[in-house]
Amino acid sequence: MAMVCLSDFEAYAKKYLPKIAWDFFAAGADDCSTRDENILAYKRIRFRPRMLRDVSMMDIRTKLLGTEISFPVGIAPTGFHQLAWPDGEKSTARAAKAMSTCYIASTYSTCTLEEISAAAPGSLRWFQLYIHRNRAVSQQLIQRAEALGFQGLVLTADLPYTGKRRDDVRNGFRLPPHMKLKNLEGAFEVCKMSPSFHSLLCLDPSVTWNDIYWLRSLTHLPIIIKGILTKEDAELAVRHGVQGIIVSNHGGRQLDGGPATVDALVEVVEAVQGRVEVYLDGGIRKGSDVLKALALGAKCVFIGRPALWGLAYKGEEGLQEVLRILQDEFRLSMALAG
Ligand code: FNR
Repeated sequence: MAMVCLSDFEAYAKKYLPKIAWDFFAAGADDCSTRDENILAYKRIRFRPRMLRDVSMMDIRTKLLGTEISFPVGIAPTGFHQLAWPDGEKSTARAAKAMSTCYIASTYSTCTLEEISAAAPGSLRWFQLYIHRNRAVSQQLIQRAEALGFQGLVLTADLPYTGKRRDDVRNGFRLPPHMKLKNLEGAFEVCKMSPSFHSLLCLDPSVTWNDIYWLRSLTHLPIIIKGILTKEDAELAVRHGVQGIIVSNHGGRQLDGGPATVDALVEVVEAVQGRVEVYLDGGIRKGSDVLKALALGAKCVFIGRPALWGLAYKGEEGLQEVLRILQDEFRLSMALAG
């Protein structure tokens, strides 16, 4: 089957992944209204295309906090890549490197940070952090990431508790026994009271803005905050000294009923006034979606589920194909929009 657009990879993943893995990747919270809105919102936004503007030469490169990437699409942090492909996050890192873009590795990777670094030495990688109840665990992870050459620390702010994803509850989702949250091995002893998978993850729901100062005291890495949806929080993020903001609703997996990210982007960009870089994730499925987000002020966008579909199709090669399709579509949309 010729893979023409990202929906082709989605259809493949749905057909061939075990149901429990597909359901976990696809899940949104509650009745998935925010997950679906992320995609619908792009369909409502229309271009005002301009003509006869010599589009024979186009430069689609951009910079993330000073580091060049080949085009403004990176890979959002998602957990458990071995559910999609045996080599897991190592394949993701290799694909991102091959396409010269940024990969944000999740705290919940099924490969260690060391394995991810070794798979793609010298590539642009950021580390995504969930703050653990046992702060020493988080501190150690941040310092490991920094020592391994990760170039940014992404703090995910929208997950004090895990959203209610109905199919995961129905399926009793947990990792198969041969897969591990390799970066957190040994970290769970203190929290074995609860039988549910997500409460075993021991995240700290008491995190506040002050914890940005705590992070700052631990690392020289730039801090990017992920999960901002309002101008008020954007202002607080800037005031607390972050270097970047990712407008995100976690792919609609957390609070159901919040805005589509591309709709929230506008107020965040307006509040930030260029003081820090603003990125977006959620619902990017076509090159024209990327162009719309950039036109509304995002410096770069990140893909979550489409990266997992690419991995499920053919590992590193499949993810490269997903990125290449987005790159071609983005270039074409730019040209056609003038
Ligand atoms: C996620 N997301 C996520 N975010 C994060 O900060 N840490 C994580 O470990 C995960 N894990 C995760 C797993 C899966 C299966 C999904 C689908 C998502 C959220 C992710 O970074 C991103 O915000 C969304 O996936 C973006 O939406 P799209 O591109 O999937 O529509």
